[in-house]
Amino acid sequence: MLFFDLKTAVSALQVVIPIHTRSLFSIRKVSQYLPPLKTYFFFTQPVIKLNNGVDMPAFGFGTWLAEPGVVGESVRLALKCGYKHIDCAAIYENEPEIGNVFGPLFSSGEYNRKDIFITSKAWVSEFKNIEGACKKTLSDLQLEYLDLYLLHLPFETENGVNIGYNAERIQKAWESMEDLVAKGLVKSVGVSNFTILKLEELLKHSPKLVPACNQVEAHPYLPQKRLHAFCKEKGISIMAYTSLGNVNRPSMFKYTCEDPVLLEDPVVKKVAERNNATVAQVLLAWALATGFGVIPKSVREERIKENLDAIKVNLSAEDLQEINSITIRHRYLDQNWALTPGQKAEELWDGEMLE
Ligand SMILES: NC(=O)c1ccc[n+]([C@@H]2O[C@H](COP(=O)([O-])OP(=O)(O)OC[C@H]3O[C@@H](n4cnc5c(N)ncnc54)[C@H](OP(=O)(O)O)[C@@H]3O)[C@@H](O)[C@H]2O)c1
Repeated sequence: MLFFDLKTAVSALQVVIPIHTRSLFSIRKVSQYLPPLKTYFFFTQPVIKLNNGVDMPAFGFGTWLAEPGVVGESVRLALKCGYKHIDCAAIYENEPEIGNVFGPLFSSGEYNRKDIFITSKAWVSEFKNIEGACKKTLSDLQLEYLDLYLLHLPFETENGVNIGYNAERIQKAWESMEDLVAKGLVKSVGVSNFTILKLEELLKHSPKLVPACNQVEAHPYLPQKRLHAFCKEKGISIMAYTSLGNVNRPSMFKYTCEDPVLLEDPVVKKVAERNNATVAQVLLAWALATGFGVIPKSVREERIKENLDAIKVNLSAEDLQEINSITIRHRYLDQNWALTPGQKAEELWDGEMLE
């Protein structure tokens, strides 16, 4: 009976207290004596509290490279499996198909719009037209508002030509992002692929809104410790992308000839075996335990489920320490297209290329 009460107490706590990934950890420590989390009656997923008080589900679903004809079904499956956060972007060129799924699911009442957190991003060609870009995404996704809207990269193109990073223009684009919140088109705004230097530049001008989130590549080969510490200090959450090391991305997105295969890393494999989990689950559990949100992408039902089950993987301090001692450093998406003449990749990333 005591056991039942303890279980109920933990479940109730999870409902009334927003669970930061950190506090989820302490709850997990109690819960190691209890049955798997999924059996809890009131079990909710980990959330990250954004700097404006909004709860962002820490476990999301990625949609990049999910092809037309497939992406809609994969989003439907993800929602059915229990994902509460869908990560989109105009440049993925699949928002209309995702909208064809969202539209009927929300209008029929099958899902409550308030229960699903939806992110999208303004592409680098649209920074002078942020409101237009946002409205186009809203129309494509068949939504009235976005939960989170990001500047996709700190670089820009004009008339199809790469013009790199320009602090003043980014500043203006950010002001347009703030206006979207005032107009009720989006609930929160953030950035993506911003380095410490670029965030410092943005914050230097005392913006009305501090970015709620910085979406960046992060995994054991690119743990981004310095950026993470900086963001934490400034109240900017980190959403990790390419957590599984997207080695299957098409060659046009591969800038280096040899990718180390994260899903075959021997240290992560050992930790996975010890935890009776898959390597993908351990990579995602590592990110959550580190304090990052995650947005793994898959178009296969079994992997969509497998990935979400990572929230039940409880890595020990020893597991985390072993993974954190990996010394390989690799950035899968180095965004070399944004290099301006004579610029080196290290400069593009302000020295954070391999951190
Ligand atoms: N802000 C940015 O600049 C930016 C950049 C990149 C990505 N993102 C976002 O982050 C999301 C995730 O990143 P990502 O798509 O680059 O990479 P990812 O999620 O790390 O990896 C996706 C790849 O891994 C495969 N995969 C998925 N689950 C697996 C599993 N359990 N076991 C083995 N393989 C598995 C997928 O194949 P199948 O589909 O065939 O399963 C796909 O090829 C994107 O979809 C996008 O929403 C944002």
